[in-house]
Amino acid sequence: MSAEKTPVENLSEEQAAAELAFLAAEVASNDELYHGKDQPAISDADYDALKRRNDAIEARFPALVREDSPSRRVGSAPLPTFAQITHSRPMLSLDNTFSDEDVQDFIGSVYRFLGQLPDGSIAFTAEPKIDGLSMSIRYENRKLVSAATRGDGTTGENVTANVKTIKDIPNTLPSDAPDIVEVRGEVYMAKSDFLALNAQMEAEGKQTYVNPRNTAAGSLRQLDAKVTASRKLRFFAYAWGEISEMPSDTQMGMVETFGKWGFPINPLMNRLSSVEDILGHYREIGLKRPDLDYDIDGVVYKVDRLDLQQRLGFRSRSPRWATAHKFPAEQAFTTVENIDIQVGRTGALTPVARLTPVTVGGVVVTNATLHNEDYIKGIGNSGERIREDEHDIRIGDTVIVQRAGDVIPQVLDVVMEKRPADAKAYAFPKTCPVCGSHAVREVNEKTGKVDAVTRCTGGFICRAQATEHLKHFVSRNAYDIEGLGARQVDFFFESEDPSLQIRTAPDIFTLEKRQADSALTKLENIDGFGKVSVGKLYAAINERRSIALHRFIYALGIRHVGETTAKLLARSYGTYEAFEAAMKEAAPLSGEAWNDLNAIEGIGEIVARAIVEFYKEPRNVEVITRLLAEVTPEVAAQPVTSGSPVAGKTVVFTGSLEKFTRDEAKARAESLGAKVAGSVSKKTDILVAGLGAGSKLDKARELGVQTMDEDEWLVLIGG
Ligand code: IVH
Repeated sequence: MSAEKTPVENLSEEQAAAELAFLAAEVASNDELYHGKDQPAISDADYDALKRRNDAIEARFPALVREDSPSRRVGSAPLPTFAQITHSRPMLSLDNTFSDEDVQDFIGSVYRFLGQLPDGSIAFTAEPKIDGLSMSIRYENRKLVSAATRGDGTTGENVTANVKTIKDIPNTLPSDAPDIVEVRGEVYMAKSDFLALNAQMEAEGKQTYVNPRNTAAGSLRQLDAKVTASRKLRFFAYAWGEISEMPSDTQMGMVETFGKWGFPINPLMNRLSSVEDILGHYREIGLKRPDLDYDIDGVVYKVDRLDLQQRLGFRSRSPRWATAHKFPAEQAFTTVENIDIQVGRTGALTPVARLTPVTVGGVVVTNATLHNEDYIKGIGNSGERIREDEHDIRIGDTVIVQRAGDVIPQVLDVVMEKRPADAKAYAFPKTCPVCGSHAVREVNEKTGKVDAVTRCTGGFICRAQATEHLKHFVSRNAYDIEGLGARQVDFFFESEDPSLQIRTAPDIFTLEKRQADSALTKLENIDGFGKVSVGKLYAAINERRSIALHRFIYALGIRHVGETTAKLLARSYGTYEAFEAAMKEAAPLSGEAWNDLNAIEGIGEIVARAIVEFYKEPRNVEVITRLLAEVTPEVAAQPVTSGSPVAGKTVVFTGSLEKFTRDEAKARAESLGAKVAGSVSKKTDILVAGLGAGSKLDKARELGVQTMDEDEWLVLIGG
């Protein structure tokens, strides 16, 4: 911290917000050093000064009080840090379905994938989707040894001591339980307990909690297990991880076994086969929803037979054998106070409705997306009318807002009877509100149709695009640089001092050196930074000089390339150099490199085009070259398929297969570490030819690719 701080009464709102952010982080990190590691970095007096300044700024700007403000934490309780536990089997999420048709499609896809099973012969379980936190509880020799939150699905937090205080969860299992069992399910807080807790908080003049789910999460993340114990958390068991001996061969049987072992299991779980019965059970649970003492947000369907679950396997993040049928979103009425335009990383101009605050499903909503120009006018993506009599959305309108799960709230419809007489149609801007460049709706090359999205044409000159790009680069699933959040990015971007400026990603990695060489402003003397936090920032940056290839690719911010696509690319090309070379080779949108890119399972033509276009822009390549002088993307790890004879091989299936469906064949090959491509090229290792194989078989022979029939393939992969 600088000795010279701006007096609180002279702070602008923006400066105040930045300082509160800094103070929250600084106090939290000192708390952690003090309590967690027993290594205080500053004197008690300095620590108190930080808290006093925080209080003073908050007193002047009450609207800026942060969720994580030191003033809102009880006493000086530190933000807890828990040890990590790597899950023995990943904890996956579920695909969502929203309509009856989606459910029909899900069931259809299960039948299609498995093939040859008569209609109505596959049973599904249907049970409430509990709105809590998933938990994996491990027992060794029938004793509870550890409990972990889901975390990112691969590793979670070790919350064993806290979970042991939950009465619903047994500390020991009966003697007939297997030696190793991980029981998984949902920790939640009952609505009645939540209301009682809030009543107590209110009576004590303390801040109340937002909803049972967040309260349950907060209660689990307590370093003091006594606090957790006082919060009355509950549990439903519905899944499992590692298990040394399977007690049943069905989903229903497994859950019933958990019940026998002493875990609560949901009484509304049922086993059904026809689509009608499944949807009937969904509606029944929906009707009971208001009377249940716990929050649920849908119904989960799972294939009952575990052997079929195994055959169906997983997509990247979710099983093919299960889906969550969500309840319709919650809605409320409010008014549109204003319409603002946000400019995103790819230049998209998104209109946002500023609303009179309203509570929707327990959360206060103040903003809602209006998607694009057409949506405001009442026109859908395919030119269809989306509102009766085609009415538009105007400032001053009373509207229906909807919130579903964690997605951004949206404005659904207007109450026309309440439209004020002077409401004017909204004129969508023709220029970027940030940089003034033209904003255009592009014509889609493939369809010839005008795109729904209006884009700023300013590219790198647009401050909004450039800063959003940087914010994406440092975000959690990309570079994840601690201490470099949205506010800091804005600060470094705006700085006029060349030793402080960060305009493109490589600048992040030259900051420390530029600062060291500069006689001008030192970062640690700037309000909002201090010696400790600057040191930490540099350490966090340097820690990322080596990074997983998929994170590197994701961080580049290529349009349409999300995490899943980035992982597919990393896995397919192995090294960054190979990836970039192939993308440049694919520039003509034809030829082998282009075909290879399109042959990657999960990458469609729109995505492929976006990647190739990105590499055609010299400025992108130039920035990446500078970045590569500072950082090294790691070689992508191949999936663990030790002993698999097809690991790393590129396989093409053609003709009609008899032993399994095409999807099943692909999934199986991929789970053994093979890459499955759609067309034959020099890179193909094996062609599996079913009946009636034609041109692909000819091409494979021509290229000298190994070919085999279905039976030979089965022998190769071990049946
Ligand atoms: S099954 C492999 N069953 O929903 C899938 N999940 O969106 C294992 N959840 O992370 C999950 N109730 O936290 C399953 N009856 C239920 C559930 C349930 C709630 C949660 C769970 C999971 C998330 C997936």
